[in-house]
Amino acid sequence: MRANLSVLRAMLALMVALMLPSAFAAVPNNRAQPAYAEEQTMLQVEADTQRGAPGLMSSQSGHVHMDRHYLGQYGDSEGNVIVQRGGNTWRYLRNGPMAAIAGTLLIVVPLLIVLFYNTVGPAREEPRSGRKLQRFSRWDMQVHWATAISFIALAISGLVLTFGKKIMLPWMGHDAYSWVAYILKYVHNFIGPLFVLCSVVMFFTFLRRNFFQRVDWQWVKEGGGLVSHKHPPAGYFNAGEKAWFWLGVTLLGLVMSISGLVLNFVNFGQTRYVLQVANYLHIIGATFYIIAAMGHIYIGTWGTPGAYEAMRHGTVDEAWAKAHHSLWYEQAKQGIAPGGAPPPTPPSPPAPHAPAPPSPRPGPAH
Ligand code: HEM
Repeated sequence: MRANLSVLRAMLALMVALMLPSAFAAVPNNRAQPAYAEEQTMLQVEADTQRGAPGLMSSQSGHVHMDRHYLGQYGDSEGNVIVQRGGNTWRYLRNGPMAAIAGTLLIVVPLLIVLFYNTVGPAREEPRSGRKLQRFSRWDMQVHWATAISFIALAISGLVLTFGKKIMLPWMGHDAYSWVAYILKYVHNFIGPLFVLCSVVMFFTFLRRNFFQRVDWQWVKEGGGLVSHKHPPAGYFNAGEKAWFWLGVTLLGLVMSISGLVLNFVNFGQTRYVLQVANYLHIIGATFYIIAAMGHIYIGTWGTPGAYEAMRHGTVDEAWAKAHHSLWYEQAKQGIAPGGAPPPTPPSPPAPHAPAPPSPRPGPAH
């Protein structure tokens, strides 16, 4: 009898020992398919109500535990919403069509740039004069590089967040990839606000040199001479650079900054729907910004020999300036600041024995 009891006790202990780890391991279950589970719950809830679900925007349609209206109709807190319908659509769009289109563009555009370089080739290079002309101030360069470096850090970390799970996880394994994703997520979250600040400073630093002028139209009509290898006349910046400033730095900078701040600081009562829309805009904006930046980087380096040293050292060769920015070159030679008036000529000292200039006759009083 006693022996039976101890066998029973041993079996009980074994059962508890076996059950304990599985109790802790129960949540989260890494094999669960939350998308389908949510879908099933929603269908079940709808079936249970025994009434047809009114349209998305109808106030009749709210089942408190189902988010059909998307924008706060569920009391003070989003916590009232247990199943958020937009989540499934978001997951589908983000991981499906959006990732596919973004990924394709991010591969095709650099290939097209390489093709362009190998067929059409870079801009015509002029023989160097050996004389230097100041193009950018130290401040211009600091602002440019701070924005560029933070942009590259955001682009790399952001792309890992979007594609890493599909591309890196399978060969890195969960342990290594989780570290990479964890670190890059924080890199992204901390550099984001810094990039917003850099973009604002960049905007005001370069604004005055980027207003469109009549001569820009001629540059556009000649396609910037990219294919003909000519040098259409241009001021301090040409129309292509101005387009990059207004559509890239300014417009896409705004899209990325606003959507990024909405995603970064989730403590202002944003609903999940607002976060999903911000995420759509963030991915679309990131794709266009990154491919436009590829074009900008190509034209500023291999595509236009001599251009990179302007942003590296602040100076360019005079022959380069004359070829690529002829109007600015003329102005710079006269000491005119970009978009500004010529500096006042200093009064020349009177000649030692020159007759005194006639005193001006007083004009009529105004
Ligand atoms: C122009 C530069 C930027 C690029 C190229 C970029 C790119 C990206 C990309 C590709 C993602 C992943 C989206 C996804 O797969 O769901 C992402 C996520 C995110 N971005 Fe950006 N982003 C930029 C700027 C910013 C800025 C300025 C901020 C904030 C002020 C920001 C905050 C965020 C946040 C909070 C996330 C979600 C990250 C997470 O899952 O924790 N981003 N970004």
